[in-house]
Amino acid sequence: MIVAVDGHAASGKGTVAKAIAQRFDLPYLDTGLLYRAVAVKMLTEGIDLSDEKAAALAAATAEPGAIEEARLRSREAGEAASIVSAHPAVRRALLDRQRRFADQAGGAVLDGRDIGTVIAPHADVKLFVTASVAERARRRALELEAAGQPVHLAEMEADLAARDRRDSSRASAPLKPAEDAVLLDTSHLSREESVAKAIRIVEESG
Ligand code: C5P
Repeated sequence: MIVAVDGHAASGKGTVAKAIAQRFDLPYLDTGLLYRAVAVKMLTEGIDLSDEKAAALAAATAEPGAIEEARLRSREAGEAASIVSAHPAVRRALLDRQRRFADQAGGAVLDGRDIGTVIAPHADVKLFVTASVAERARRRALELEAAGQPVHLAEMEADLAARDRRDSSRASAPLKPAEDAVLLDTSHLSREESVAKAIRIVEESG
C-alpha cells in the first residue's frame, strides 16, 4: 500500500503521515527534509539560492541524515527550501529517490507537496492535509519555541502565507490536492483527533 500525504506547511501532515506509517507498519519518508537538505547545503557553502544549476548539483548529493536536525528544521531552512524547490532541475534531481522509496516492495508512506500528483500518482490512498494559517502559525511557533528558536506569531503567519503562495504558484509541481485526494482540515482537531481521522480514511479507502 502506498499512502501519499500532501498539504500545507505546519498543517499536521508530518504527524499524520508518521502515525499512519506506524499503524500500518510501513516505511516513512518526509520529503520536505530532502529539499531542506539541499537548501542547508547551499546556505552553508554560500551559494546563491537562485542558481538553478548549482542547486541541482547540491540536490544530487544532499543527504538529510548528514545535517544537524535543528538546522534542518529551522525556519531559515524551511524558507530556503521553498525557494530551491521551485527549480525544476532540483525537483528532477530528487524525483528518482522519492519514486524508489514509494515503489519499494511492501509499500510506503511519503509526505510532501507533490506526492499524490507527481511522485506517486498511483498511490492507493491520497490525503491532503490543511489548516487555517493562524492555527498553523500557532503550532509552528510552539514547535520552534520548544526547540529554543522563539518567533513572533505575526511574523510566523506572514512567513507561512508567503510560503503557501510560493509553493502553490510555482510552475513546476505546484502544491495542489490531487483530484482523488481526501481533504483533512485539522484547524479544529487535536493531534489525536487528526491522527484518528487520518487512520480511518486510510482504512476506508486503502
Ligand atoms: O514540509 P516542509 O516544510 O519541510 O518543506 C519545506 C519546503 O520544501 C516546502 O515549503 C516546499 O517548498 C518544499 N517541498 C516541496 N515538495 C515536497 C516537499 C517539500 O516543494 N515534496
